[in-house]
Amino acid sequence: MAFTRKHLLSMQGVARDEIETIFEVADSLKEILSRPIKKVPPLRGKSVCTLFFEPSTRTRTSFEMAAKILSADTQSIAASTSSLVKGESFKDTVLTLESMGFDLFVIRHKSAGAAQFLTQLTDARVINAGDGMHAHPTQGLLDMYTIREHLGGLEGLTVAIVGDIAHSRVARCDFFGMTTMGAKVRFVGPTTLMPAEVERLGVEVYHDLEPGLHGADIVYVLRIQRERLESGLLPSTREYAETFGINMKRLALAKPNALVMHPGPMNRGVEIMPDVADGVRSVITDQVTNGLVIRMALLFLMLGGTYDEVAS
Ligand code: CP
Repeated sequence: MAFTRKHLLSMQGVARDEIETIFEVADSLKEILSRPIKKVPPLRGKSVCTLFFEPSTRTRTSFEMAAKILSADTQSIAASTSSLVKGESFKDTVLTLESMGFDLFVIRHKSAGAAQFLTQLTDARVINAGDGMHAHPTQGLLDMYTIREHLGGLEGLTVAIVGDIAHSRVARCDFFGMTTMGAKVRFVGPTTLMPAEVERLGVEVYHDLEPGLHGADIVYVLRIQRERLESGLLPSTREYAETFGINMKRLALAKPNALVMHPGPMNRGVEIMPDVADGVRSVITDQVTNGLVIRMALLFLMLGGTYDEVAS
């Protein structure tokens, strides 16, 4: 097994053989989802605590389902119903939970670095489920796994990531993971939503959709976040939709069988039109299913699962 790290905090520095190990484990666990009884015992006796200080549908639910399918015990903490609302600090909250002996924490937090800080407060393993604009590594993994499932791998592919690159932890994780796996990544978006000097990373930058999408194998659409409008970085969602929204005509700029991806949640009619989101080239629902599979694989690897307890 090539994946032996204690924590998963970002995709930067995660090696190709580690990613391939996660994918191979995911391949062997995916079949469990088609069984009549979707429950296997390899993580019996292990405990997982999900700490969500920011809203989530996909990530939180899939981590909890993944843990339950593998028979780990789960405890879910949401900031809004915890003693944080009584003024308890993040540190004291974590130290309290640490005293209960969890084996692994999954954390989402609005501040970049929160997952790293958590590793300093606990002996348990930590998976970052999104920290501010920094990282969302399991999204990067599930995106790559979905591409591999449809196109056989990432080597030599061109991925156009379109939208708010500057504030996107998804763009960052996809960039690091996909380039490690041999893909060429383009960032496409308005200048106000592009990080300064991003070309230094070795990424191609486009401010016009036409050249940015031309010949792409994957059109990866990012969510436009409401706060960007409030901060004046975008004039209006309508103007964004007119200049960068992905419709069928614009999708035709990419390769004929290009995949359409989106991390969710989508703003239909803003960054992506409904006929594209629901069209034959969209793999958005596959991304969600694969999110569950990838999170099963990570929990299995990080909590010491063995295959003899997975066999049906
Ligand atoms: N893609 C993603 O992280 O979605 P959620 O915010 O619903 O978890």
